[in-house]
Amino acid sequence: MKTIIVTGGAGNIGSFIVDQLVELGHKVVVIDNFYNGKYKNIANHLKNKTIELEPIDIVSEEMVSYVFEKHKPELVCHQASLMIMDSNKFPQRAIDTNIRGTFNIIQASIKYNIKKIVFASSASVYGEPMYLPVDENHPFNNRTLYGATKIAKESLMNAWAYSHNLPFVGFRYFNIYSERQGLGAFYTQVFQKWIHAIYEDKEITIYGDGSQTLDLVHSYDAAKANILALFNDDIKYEYFNIGSGVETKLIELLSIIEKYLGKKAKIRFETSDPHLVKRRCSSIKKAETLLGFKPSIDVEEGTKRYVIHLLEGNINAL
Ligand SMILES: NC(=O)c1ccc[n+]([C@@H]2O[C@H](COP(=O)([O-])OP(=O)(O)OC[C@H]3O[C@@H](n4cnc5c(N)ncnc54)[C@H](O)[C@@H]3O)[C@@H](O)[C@H]2O)c1
Repeated sequence: MKTIIVTGGAGNIGSFIVDQLVELGHKVVVIDNFYNGKYKNIANHLKNKTIELEPIDIVSEEMVSYVFEKHKPELVCHQASLMIMDSNKFPQRAIDTNIRGTFNIIQASIKYNIKKIVFASSASVYGEPMYLPVDENHPFNNRTLYGATKIAKESLMNAWAYSHNLPFVGFRYFNIYSERQGLGAFYTQVFQKWIHAIYEDKEITIYGDGSQTLDLVHSYDAAKANILALFNDDIKYEYFNIGSGVETKLIELLSIIEKYLGKKAKIRFETSDPHLVKRRCSSIKKAETLLGFKPSIDVEEGTKRYVIHLLEGNINAL
C-alpha cells in the first residue's frame, strides 16, 4: 500500500484516478480547492473514510509543503489546473495555477523524495494539427494561453524535475469526458450544453458545418493510463498521447446524444471561429506499446452513460 497525492482529485479525471487507487488499496490524499471540482465526485470516499481531503490551493507554496510534510506521500498524480475557457478569462490565475502551482508540486516532490510524479499536459500543446494522426513528435503549434501553460509545465518537468532526479510521466490528453465533468473544458462542454438544451427543447448552436472532429476518451480510461504509469518503474521521463485514435465529428456525436435522449435537436448553424482546432486525432501507439494502454469505453457507450446519469435526476446538477 502506498500513500499517493492526487491534485485535482475532485475533478473529472482526478476523481476516476481516486476511485481506481482506492480500489487497489492505496492511501489516497486528495488536494483540490473545488474551483471546478465537485464534492459529489468524491463524496462516497469521504463518507467511507477511504481518502483524506486537503482542500488547499496549489498556488500556496506553504500549504503544498504542509500537506506533503503531513502525509509523506510516495507518489504524486498532478491533475489540478485551470481549463481553457477560464484561462482566457483569468489569464493571471492560469499562470499562477498551472505554472506556479506545478512548480510548487515539483519542489515539494523533490524535497520529500517522491518516487514518481505523473502529470496532466494536453493535446493543446500541438495546436491545429500539421498531420494526422498526431504523434508525440508533432511540433508544438499552440496558439492558446492554456496550451502555453501546459508547454511551460512540460518545460519545468524537463528541466527542474529531471535535473533533480525526480522521475515523471506527462500525459497529453485529447478530449476527455465523463458525466463528472464541470464546465470549463472548451471542446467537451458540448456534452452538457447539448444534452441540456435538447432535453429542454431549446436550440443548440453548431459553429461551422459540424464536421469538426474530437478524439474522445472516457475519463475512466484516462485514469487507467495514470495508474499504469504510476506503478511501472521502467517508464519515466516520457510523454504519452492519451486519446482513442478515433475521430468523431460533432454531428456524429449529436446523433448519438439524440438517440439516447430520444429527442431531436433544434440546430442553429453559425460561422465557426477560425482559432478553434478543427480536427483532433491522436496516435496512441506509444501508450499502447509502452504502457499497455487500451481505451475500453467507446463514444457510444460513454455518451449513453452520460445521458442516463443526467436523466437519473442529475439534469440540473451541473
Ligand atoms: N478534460 C479534458 O478534455 C482535458 C484535455 C487536456 C488536458 N486536460 C488536463 O487534465 C487535467 C484534469 O482535467 P479535468 O477534465 O479533470 O478538469 P477538472 O476541471 O474537472 O479538474 C481539475 C481540478 O483541479 C482543481 N483545481 C483547479 N485549480 C486548483 C488549485 N489552484 N488548487 C487546487 N486544485 C485546483 C479543480 O477544482 C478541479 O477539481 C487538467 O490538468 C487539464 O488541464 C484535460
